[in-house]
Amino acid sequence: MSNTDQTLANLLQEDRRFDPPAELAAHANLTAEAYDRAAADREGFWAAQAERITWAEPFTQVLDWSDPPFAKWYVGGKLNAAYNCVDRHVEAGRGDKVAIHFVGEPVGDTRSITYAELQDLVSQAANALTDLGVAAGDRVAIYMPMIPEAVVTMLACARIGAPHTVVFGGFSSDALASRLEDCQAKVVVTADGGYRRGAASALKPAVDEARTKAETLGHTVEKVLVVRRTGQEVEWDDSVDVWWHDAVDGASTQHTPEAFDAEHPLYVMYTSGTTGKPKGILHTTGGYLVGCSYTHWAVFDLKDDDVYWCTADIGWVTGHSYIVYGPLANGVTQVLYEGTPDSPERGRWWDIIEQHGVTIFYTAPTAIRSFMKQGREIPDARDLSSLRLLGSVGEPINPEAYVWYRHVIGGDRTPVVDTWWQTETGSIMISPLPGVTAGKPGSAMIPIPGVAAEVVDEEGKPVPNGSGGYLVLTEPWPSMLRTIWGDDERFKETYWSRFAKQGYYFAGDGAKKDSDGDLWVLGRVDDVMNVSGHRLSTTEIESALVSHPKVAEAAVVGAKDEDTGQAVCAFVILREEAGDGGDDIVAELRKHVRKEIGPIATPRQIMIVPELPKTRSGKIMRRLLRDVAENREVGDVTTLADSSVMDLISSGLSGGKGDE
Ligand code: PRX
Repeated sequence: MSNTDQTLANLLQEDRRFDPPAELAAHANLTAEAYDRAAADREGFWAAQAERITWAEPFTQVLDWSDPPFAKWYVGGKLNAAYNCVDRHVEAGRGDKVAIHFVGEPVGDTRSITYAELQDLVSQAANALTDLGVAAGDRVAIYMPMIPEAVVTMLACARIGAPHTVVFGGFSSDALASRLEDCQAKVVVTADGGYRRGAASALKPAVDEARTKAETLGHTVEKVLVVRRTGQEVEWDDSVDVWWHDAVDGASTQHTPEAFDAEHPLYVMYTSGTTGKPKGILHTTGGYLVGCSYTHWAVFDLKDDDVYWCTADIGWVTGHSYIVYGPLANGVTQVLYEGTPDSPERGRWWDIIEQHGVTIFYTAPTAIRSFMKQGREIPDARDLSSLRLLGSVGEPINPEAYVWYRHVIGGDRTPVVDTWWQTETGSIMISPLPGVTAGKPGSAMIPIPGVAAEVVDEEGKPVPNGSGGYLVLTEPWPSMLRTIWGDDERFKETYWSRFAKQGYYFAGDGAKKDSDGDLWVLGRVDDVMNVSGHRLSTTEIESALVSHPKVAEAAVVGAKDEDTGQAVCAFVILREEAGDGGDDIVAELRKHVRKEIGPIATPRQIMIVPELPKTRSGKIMRRLLRDVAENREVGDVTTLADSSVMDLISSGLSGGKGDE
């Protein structure tokens, strides 16, 4: 039995079921009839969901799918995303409602911002960006800590029709530079630094370096707008750098939002693919906002008095869809937390839930597993009784973590919604509905109303219940990616060529249907890894390693890891002239990867090997390396060009250098 089959068999023995709480079911936003209603008239269903949004001009057609895979949703409609997330709530008399309870990492550093205040801030930032020369269509990069100004900047960009590209603050200056160049960002918005793990962590120096690097790639960033957050010393270039407090604080709070076409680009989010070059996923305005707003309302059963908290970073798609666009379009009150879960001490998250009376909490399995390890005494010492719904995202949640989450954090009252989606899908696709579904620990269950998914075999035929295959989306959906920025061909090739005949979107994940037809997502079937819910490309890390002068060749695999889901394991062949690489070679290579990509990509393990297993056509057989990395007996080696290679690797490892 292969490793995946074994996991599957274990998962499918899971027979615990958790019914929706009666009270929640009785008042649920979405009930079981929605599945049939959506299936009977999918476009009609999505037309109805679009009524959640305020349109400056109504659309004339729900979907134009005449040139697949290039979709147009809500054709002819015009809207402003920031108006929808902010102004309309103020106009409706809800200006005094708190939009954001900001919690900085330093204890006591809090700030609550109402919708009326948010409207002023976004208008000021929109005016300031315009003054800096940003016009509709120009790209603005955002490299910021989790502070209100990050949300304000995203909304200000949306308000003036300038697509933003948020780059996660943990990425290196090299990674930032390549993104600045790829999307030709005119302005970068950053901060001197942010607080992480009890200390000020600098951001501005990485922007300075990235700007210089982008210059060598032929791209000039015109302005850098800098929030003073930590008060750290920063290098300053008067011709480029502008303080936020100089440009924004004094700007007018009056700004008229312009209505943009439903298909106007809203943002580009870079994500790892199967090649070394990150893909700029393009989302547009109307369909994306409808998708985020509808799913946030339906999957989290959002009510007006909820206090919502999503712990994602705005540098990832979850922060875009479920901190900024979905929740704010829905006029929610939410918590925004800057720092790490264990600063200044391990119970920080639970303190925040208690202090703010959080009712809906959305986080990642990797975090849940680390809390399980720390022990239940920590959350048990806090009052978490305000919680009524828990969500999970980013990777498959193992049944133990699901049950612990529900039991210890949710006091057995709360449904857990395991939400499957991707940067590309823009919003949640597969998830239980909290008022309808009897949840199974470890299963994302079925597509939500309006979404059509299948598990298919190599030929694109649906597999029967009880079998596994490839996860596909069989119908277009409003928040779908529109293309890869500047690369329509790669867009077609990556997502639409595998099942071109059927016209299915190929998600890159494997999944299984259980005997009830419920879906269990098993993880990636391509060369993409999922480390602590972060998406990393094996090839991207391989090219980072090969760019080191001592490295001749490298192969990277994602190996199972109890804490992080998967961990990066690298096999490296050194150049002859590098000899044995020296005593510090492993540390040197790990440092190099951090510099090239960022700390999240640092290999857990680097093994210096004499050879790599390859097929006769020269393709690296990662499957065999995964066996080694996971300490398993090495599988079938008959397709290797040289079947003795695995022996060489194993013997090299027992006597050679490795690193844990
Ligand atoms: O493999 C799936 C996994 O995360 C991938 C998408 O990563 P990214 O675009 O970074 O978006 C993460 C947040 C939406 C998917 O292809 N994934 C995400 N959610 C789940 C999941 N795997 C299993 N269960 C989930 N709930």
